[in-house]
Amino acid sequence: MARIIGGIGTTHVPSIGQAIAEGKENDPYWSPFFRGFDYVHGWLAREKPDVAVVFSNDHGLNFFLDKLPTFAIGAANEYRNEDEGWGIPVSKPAAGDADLSWHLINQLVGDGFDMTICQEMLIDHAVTIPMALMWPGERVWPVKIVPISINTVQHPLPSLARCLDLGRSVGRALDAYDKDIKVVVIGTGGLSHQLDGERAGFINKEFDLLCMDELGRNPGVLTRYSITQFIERAGAQGVEFLNWMAMRGALTGAVSEAHRNYHIPISNTAAATMVLENVLVTAKAHGCTSGKDVDCCGVKSKIEASKKPEQIPALGVLR
Ligand code: DHB
Ligand code: FE
Repeated sequence: MARIIGGIGTTHVPSIGQAIAEGKENDPYWSPFFRGFDYVHGWLAREKPDVAVVFSNDHGLNFFLDKLPTFAIGAANEYRNEDEGWGIPVSKPAAGDADLSWHLINQLVGDGFDMTICQEMLIDHAVTIPMALMWPGERVWPVKIVPISINTVQHPLPSLARCLDLGRSVGRALDAYDKDIKVVVIGTGGLSHQLDGERAGFINKEFDLLCMDELGRNPGVLTRYSITQFIERAGAQGVEFLNWMAMRGALTGAVSEAHRNYHIPISNTAAATMVLENVLVTAKAHGCTSGKDVDCCGVKSKIEASKKPEQIPALGVLR
């Protein structure tokens, strides 16, 4: 079975690529953001995932407003980047894991997610920037990827609940996969930002922190926001948080927050980085010697509690 080691949420602002190309990681503007990845580097070096499932939104490199799938998944053995017009260097390609992609596609379609299946797919800054942040300076990326694209651009968008469920379907498929691989799940974009219109430059720290607090311990709470309510609070592009919701949904075990960094601003965006660890449910998996498979050391109860969004305590008035 594939082992889901955890999830990473990260901003994907393109100018990060410029900062990397120009070696500005330690400049005063950039340092508080890049330092937030020191923990991530140590964690990835320890955990050594084989594959990254990456939830992100395409920004017009594959799909434009004329044709925009709600959910699309790559089923290729290689994904290339192309010049996106941000003035950042074109990234090296990422290797894909087409076998795993097809396994996920079967589970997802079986669960009622009618995915657009892409045997050719370009990856844009929403994939390449997070990879450059997570694995800096590598000649080839040390993981294969399965990219999953969520429409955060052309309304109507999928709901937060739907994206959480999409992630859950991916998590179940990973748990059922017969190859012994380690998987990290990544959600990119956000947090609050708006790039255009009257509210260009909008950032909402209080709401971002609420989203980060709830994502780890109780993501079901966040499904109470409609897309419109979410955009009011997070900005038109802050809704890229849908990718973080899907990432969280794919964590099928006991989830705990291992790390977060929050920094305002990077370009027009509240930049956030988060690591959620995923501990397997079974006694064997977390080294319990009590011999019980369920509820040993209280781990199972913790998991069940975190899996029942209907039983969540009310948040009170929507903030
Ligand atoms: C910026 C943020 C994004 O999410 C993006 O896709 C492009 C640009 C920005 O803040 O500059
Ligand atoms: Fe974006």
